[in-house]
Amino acid sequence: MNTTQLLLVASALATQSFSTAAHAQDPAFGAVIYADHCVVCHGQTGSGDGIVGELFAKRPADLRLLSKGNDGLFPTERVIDAIYGRAKIPGHGDSRMPVWGDHFISEALHGPAIDPADAAMITQGRVLSVVSYLQGLQVE
Ligand code: HEC
Repeated sequence: MNTTQLLLVASALATQSFSTAAHAQDPAFGAVIYADHCVVCHGQTGSGDGIVGELFAKRPADLRLLSKGNDGLFPTERVIDAIYGRAKIPGHGDSRMPVWGDHFISEALHGPAIDPADAAMITQGRVLSVVSYLQGLQVE
């Protein structure tokens, strides 16, 4: 199985039920992932003022306003798609966002769980954890 196929598996899994015991979303774990992988662009608070983000002509999204921009409902599916790298963000052609689905999968495959199915599950857990962390950042 190559990385693209793995990503497809992970994508398929991501659209299934969100809570399987061992891989349930965990906002505390999500906070760690956010600090490691997202803060440089999206900033400490999620406002999009990270040190790398400031170099972008098109600034990284303000991740605190995801619900506000969606009639007060957190757009879970769109956020998952954006993180996996599947989302087409209107008006911008290809996303400048790194493709985290690929990144997390290849990281997991180099970790202790080498089995591709395990790697896909680990990736799903990471994505959903960071999504639940982002959900907690939303402002009214
Ligand atoms: C290298 C800079 C960079 C990093 C690192 C980064 N992002 Fe982004 N992100 C962007 C940019 C720029 C956009 C704006 C959309 C675009 O132009 O592609 C964006 C958009 C998004 C969106 C879409 C918001 C919407 O309105 O749909 C989400 C969700 C998101 N990022 C989450 C994350 C998460 C979670 C991480 C960490 C795992 C992360 N980003 C890491 C640059 C980054």
